[in-house]
Amino acid sequence: MSSILVTGALGQIGSELVPALRARFGTNRVIATDLRVVPSSAAAAESPCDHLDCTEAQQLHEAVRRYNVGTIYHLAALLSASAEAAPQLAWCVNMGGLYNVLEVARAYGCGVFFPSSIGAFGPSTPKDATPQVTIQRPTSIYGVTKVSGELLCDYYASRFNVDTRGVRLPGLVSYVAAPGGGTTDYAVEMFIHAVRYGRYTCFIQAGTRLDMMYMPDALSAMIQVMEAKADRLRYRNAYNVTAMSVTPATIADAIRQHIPDFVVDYEVDPVRQAIADSWPRALDDSAAREDWSWAPQFDLQAMTKDMLSRLQDRLAAVRSR
Ligand SMILES: NC(=O)c1ccc[n+]([C@@H]2O[C@H](COP(=O)([O-])OP(=O)(O)OC[C@H]3O[C@@H](n4cnc5c(N)ncnc54)[C@H](O)[C@@H]3O)[C@@H](O)[C@H]2O)c1
Repeated sequence: MSSILVTGALGQIGSELVPALRARFGTNRVIATDLRVVPSSAAAAESPCDHLDCTEAQQLHEAVRRYNVGTIYHLAALLSASAEAAPQLAWCVNMGGLYNVLEVARAYGCGVFFPSSIGAFGPSTPKDATPQVTIQRPTSIYGVTKVSGELLCDYYASRFNVDTRGVRLPGLVSYVAAPGGGTTDYAVEMFIHAVRYGRYTCFIQAGTRLDMMYMPDALSAMIQVMEAKADRLRYRNAYNVTAMSVTPATIADAIRQHIPDFVVDYEVDPVRQAIADSWPRALDDSAAREDWSWAPQFDLQAMTKDMLSRLQDRLAAVRSR
């Protein structure tokens, strides 16, 4: 039986996608890899983990051969704020890594999951009910790599018959691993600071509206699109998916339903604000709903309730040690 290789597995998404894939397909069929050193606790023999730099084609070829890989979830990338701080490195990792993954997939017949982003859109994209197929002229280097990545996936699907699939993820809210330098990190930080300190200083303006999603829904989207029947998929670059369209102020209000004294101050970071202002406010994800029955489970209220109780449990566990 072939296995599933995950690149960038120690990041915000990989930390939860790997256990979800292992629960579904078996622990030893899912190979977690990252540029960072895998913690020894996670590197038990029955949970295969490896060091892998996706910019090194040879390392990918060796891993695919060694583990008989049939599917690659390619998560390794620099996120929007980190990419803007190091645009040349971002191009090298985001594009070089994807190119290597697609080449190895072409050589060994692997399926590829590519996580695109709302960052693949730009200021000239319609901001509300953003269509599946529309203008994509992003102004951040992150967005440039995401739209180029989408096109490359399309190309490898049509030219080389590689089974590429993807979703355009919105900002993701989760409690397991810290976010990795994205523009929507404020949403995660807001929940953590609400529980720990009752106060948060937000780097995005109170009224900036963006798509968001709770991690369990994102994991479902990533697994569902890979399991969809190939002949149902009209798009091989990436599908719009969303769960809610929210602002820092509406998230703060939802948190105040549970922590009434929660205070938010605003100290806007112009770089991340400019990135947020260039993104859509609310995606139209009807193509994903039609083609592979996408349906998120968590709205803002459900996500807030679950996030706060999980974080409170974790904090209580730390304090009782
Ligand atoms: N988290 C979000 O809100 C979000 C939203 C939209 C799209 N995405 C996309 O999903 C993917 C994963 O995002 P994430 O939030 O888990 O990111 P993250 O920054 O938390 O994790 C990325 C991981 O990639 C690893 N990495 C960096 N360079 C590497 C290299 N050369 N080789 C191998 N590994 C390398 C890092 O060590 C890190 O563990 C990215 O492609 C990102 O663009 C994320």
